[in-house]
Amino acid sequence: MSAIDLHARASSDFDAKLAETRALLIRAAAEFSPLTQASSLGAEDVVITHLINSLELDIPIFVLETGMLHPQTLELLERTKAMSRAPVNVYQPVNEAVIQFVAREGKEPMYKSIELRKACCHVRKVEPLERALAGQKAWITGLRREQSNARAEVPLIDTSAERTKFNPLANWTWGDVWHYIAASKVDYNPLHDEFFPSIGCAPCTRAISLGEDFRAGRWWWEDEAAKECGLHVKTPETERSPA
Ligand code: ADX
Ligand code: SF4
Repeated sequence: MSAIDLHARASSDFDAKLAETRALLIRAAAEFSPLTQASSLGAEDVVITHLINSLELDIPIFVLETGMLHPQTLELLERTKAMSRAPVNVYQPVNEAVIQFVAREGKEPMYKSIELRKACCHVRKVEPLERALAGQKAWITGLRREQSNARAEVPLIDTSAERTKFNPLANWTWGDVWHYIAASKVDYNPLHDEFFPSIGCAPCTRAISLGEDFRAGRWWWEDEAAKECGLHVKTPETERSPA
């Protein structure tokens, strides 16, 4: 059974949500320049990229290619680069920093302690994110309220940090996301058909079982409260505005 068969079910007010999302993207593109979409190539992000392309908005996309992504994700990245009207920019970690980190802490530091897991996320995601966002007035993410307790209050427009963050799917359900993917025939990561709802780096993502929480497959060996990688938590790094 595919993720579409399992999940595609629009909320009763889906049309209104979609209209609101489209209007928000159009407004973001008109009012903020430069503006960029952060895409992990997960289900939410492929929906947003599809909307950006279909609305013909001038919004480039960036992907943080951590060096630890699944082959299926890398293949989707290549297809996205080939099909997207909007430019797709790929940011990788600093090679030297990765080599030193792996030499010091080994190949799988993430399972040893939360500190080492966060250090890995810093080298592979947070520092490249700073480069991806340098000079950007605003950014667009696929965060949704339903994803976790920590995200229950995600606003459509987040102005709490110096750089405005748009979360155009904040009030979409998982069913809405898959309804859009099915209705618009959006290309998606085949890992979603293998019970991976939330996809990150390969060592830190697993499939979930029936009844498990949406993010249960991310950093599953850690406590709920620790399970963010630093892209969306307000640390000094992410709040600092790169020159
Ligand atoms: S994470 O903090 O746990 O890694 P999650 O995978 O839920 O985040 O994704 C939330 C949003 O963060 C995505 O919709 C996307 O906007 C952004 N994001 C996450 N991972 C990446 C990535 N590798 N490259 C670019 N953006 C990303
Ligand atoms: Fe490293 Fe895992 Fe963080 Fe990816 S998610 S950067 S592999 S700790």
